[in-house]
Amino acid sequence: MLRIQSSGIRHGGRTSFVTANSEKQASKAVVRSYGCQMNVYDSGKISNFLGSEGVSITTELGEADIVVLNTCHIREKAAEKIYSEIGTLGEWKQARRAAGGSPIVAIAGCVAQAEGAEILRRQSLVDVVVGPQSYQKLPDLIMQARAGRKLVEIDFATAEKFDRLDRAAHTPAPTRAAVSAFLTIQEGCDKFCTFCVVPYTRGEEVCRTPASVLAEAQRLVADGARELVLLGQNVNAYSSIEDDRDWNLADLVAALSDIGDLERIRYTTSHPRDMSPDLIAAHRDMPKLMPFLHLPAQSGSDRILRAMNRRHTADHYRRLIGRIREARADMAFSTDIIVGFPGETAADFEATCALVEEIGFSSAFTFKYSIRAGTPGAEADDQIEEPVKHERLLALQALVERRRRPINASAVGSVVPVLFEKRGRHPGQIVGRSPTFQSVFASGDAALIGRTCDVRLTSAGPNSFAGAIVAASER
Ligand code: 5AD
Ligand code: SF4
Repeated sequence: MLRIQSSGIRHGGRTSFVTANSEKQASKAVVRSYGCQMNVYDSGKISNFLGSEGVSITTELGEADIVVLNTCHIREKAAEKIYSEIGTLGEWKQARRAAGGSPIVAIAGCVAQAEGAEILRRQSLVDVVVGPQSYQKLPDLIMQARAGRKLVEIDFATAEKFDRLDRAAHTPAPTRAAVSAFLTIQEGCDKFCTFCVVPYTRGEEVCRTPASVLAEAQRLVADGARELVLLGQNVNAYSSIEDDRDWNLADLVAALSDIGDLERIRYTTSHPRDMSPDLIAAHRDMPKLMPFLHLPAQSGSDRILRAMNRRHTADHYRRLIGRIREARADMAFSTDIIVGFPGETAADFEATCALVEEIGFSSAFTFKYSIRAGTPGAEADDQIEEPVKHERLLALQALVERRRRPINASAVGSVVPVLFEKRGRHPGQIVGRSPTFQSVFASGDAALIGRTCDVRLTSAGPNSFAGAIVAASER
């Protein structure tokens, strides 16, 4: 096994990935994504880096000679799930070898970063382990792996992280942009919530320059995007200095609003501590900024919030939501909540339920606390037993649903602008999102994909609305 040093990508006169490939034919790669939107976005970048070296992307394992698993560490048992997923690639690898190929399995993302060489030790099927800082090196790493080496590239170098993000903006996109496209503006997190592995796997907060963000935004919109979702683990902490000017997220939203064909702007994920007055005012003043906010609360108990090192109280969260609603009355909110954090009593859980009852989230992602090695939460000796966590999770989910149902039901009959993003599951059906991020299905021509139509909501399902198109926009 070789741990390679940072070498940077080579430009100009480099060996072509395709012709250097021992199979003397165009390579095909499957890139599978697990976890958060950041990973979906990163998988797009991985595909672009491979694509710019002549590798085409496929969803068919049978025709691929490269498999990249872009992993996420934030969810429960993430590493174990990836190990079992890797195990299923044994047959594929054997078949490709038998056909004279040199199949490569690469593990990317946060599990790669966290486990490093351990992955190679535990799973001999793996050839390359690459952390989120080094995706531009993946074509190089795969070429070296074809020569029989096992490689781990998980070095952290802040300067390179900037560079990688900026270079990603200049990588040619092989396909047309999605109608709603992701754009990473910030990576990493300095908050160190005691349950969370992100500060360890993604490293410190780093922001892209406004110039680089705006350039990528313009390219995505020129390629067909009509909505941009600005991504970062702590996106509302965005801060950058360019030409002696301080930029925050509100400044970035204002600059992006000037892109004529861009219709909608969203951002995720935010921390309550970083919801600045400027950003709240942007929700009032910037019509392209959609009235929806994903704002993890994690708990409604101040005692647990303190133990989680969240740096906000339940009351701070409540008042914050109130201020945002004052700025824009039609705001919808979603959240993340963890039940069963070490030491959580029945009273703490009640406090969480009270917060959920009071706010009325349009959706909530609920999790049972699970230990992440290396985080302070893992060391706590007052871990909650599984049946208690389970019971609280079910109770919380029922509450979220009970609060959500009337909110959705009251929207039925109203007309909302829907930006259509793709075809639906049924013939003649198209799917898009309302301003408040609800999925809306309607009968309509696929030519309307990429356009905003006024849609009357006709019925509400658990996770989406059915609607009827009233009028298409002039775009
Ligand atoms: N256990 C349970 N949930 C977690 N999350 C992050 N780490 C853990 C953990 N150790 C949840 C948080 C975060 C979301 C993305 O995942 O709620 O906001
Ligand atoms: Fe994790 Fe907390 Fe940072 Fe969110 S803010 S990524 S939960 S450490």
